[in-house]
Amino acid sequence: MKNNAIFQLLRCPDCSNKLKVKTKFLQCTKCNKKYNFYNNIPIFLPKDKEINASKKKLMYKTMQHYNRDNFNIDIPERVKFYLKENMLFGRLIKKLKKESKKIKNVIDVGCGAGILSEIVIKEINPEIMIGIDLSINTLSQIKNRSLFLLQGTNISLPVNSNVIDLIISNGVIHHTPDPKKSFKELVRVTKKNGLIYLSVYSRTWYFLLFITVGKLIRFLYKYKLSIYLLHIFFMPLFYIYFILGVFVSLKKIKFFKWRMIWNIFSDQYITPQATFHTKDEILKWSKENNLKCIDYGIRNLGRMHDFLLIKLK
Ligand SMILES: C[S@@+](CC[C@H](N)C(=O)[O-])C[C@H]1O[C@@H](n2cnc3c(N)ncnc32)[C@H](O)[C@@H]1O
Repeated sequence: MKNNAIFQLLRCPDCSNKLKVKTKFLQCTKCNKKYNFYNNIPIFLPKDKEINASKKKLMYKTMQHYNRDNFNIDIPERVKFYLKENMLFGRLIKKLKKESKKIKNVIDVGCGAGILSEIVIKEINPEIMIGIDLSINTLSQIKNRSLFLLQGTNISLPVNSNVIDLIISNGVIHHTPDPKKSFKELVRVTKKNGLIYLSVYSRTWYFLLFITVGKLIRFLYKYKLSIYLLHIFFMPLFYIYFILGVFVSLKKIKFFKWRMIWNIFSDQYITPQATFHTKDEILKWSKENNLKCIDYGIRNLGRMHDFLLIKLK
């Protein structure tokens, strides 16, 4: 029953038409394209016409990257961090819990291992919670059955227009070949008066580090032997930076698995694609797309910034 309501929200990412539900796949009612399931997850990757060849290549490189180094930071400290009063996400959850207007459906676009989706399920319990990500390996690790998963890209979301109450996109559009198009896709699927929680890399010290030290890291990463150099010279520094970050925000010293920290390091410095956006740029995109920014926050020592946007028309 719930799945039927979810399928009603979806559309063919290639020709934008309705889908019919078959036993083993979903099929477009117009172009007849079939969308198969993998581990019960529908696979919605669009054809070439939606994305040009170089962008498609970059998207597949990004997919491989996250299939290898999953962004799966499933630790209680991360939940605590996001729910803090001074975090925009924490303020959003608090606001939604207080409001009488029920949030019926939510999509976490680029959900990774679904940490924010799980917070939403636990705290505001929407009727429908969908997680979309490019990396099937990351999605396959999610155990929470209240979260409906699908593999897709934010450049062409397999979702109808003007149907979603709340969109979450935390640290994703800056990893895509066309961040502005990804942004517009988030707006397209959002209902009038619906909300978008958007978090992106800020054009600050991290940008400078990414194009200098990061360039050296990405160069070394091409060679198998030099990967050991990264583990010996860069990772310990990054590990310390991470532990200090946790200490500063949660007043707690804790050690984490090397592999998990490596995946975060890889997300921040080895990722095939990263773009950096100023506050003015995101506000300009918002204005162009009839959105109003109703809350704003800076976090991770200015490495990222968060926007809460409302769709006016
Ligand atoms: C930094 S992680 C953030 C994950 C999650 N939002 C979180 O906060 O834990 C970035 C995620 O974006 C996904 N991603 C990258 N490009 C994407 C695209 N074009 N469409 C959808 N997801 C994408 C990656 O697979 C990865 O899981």
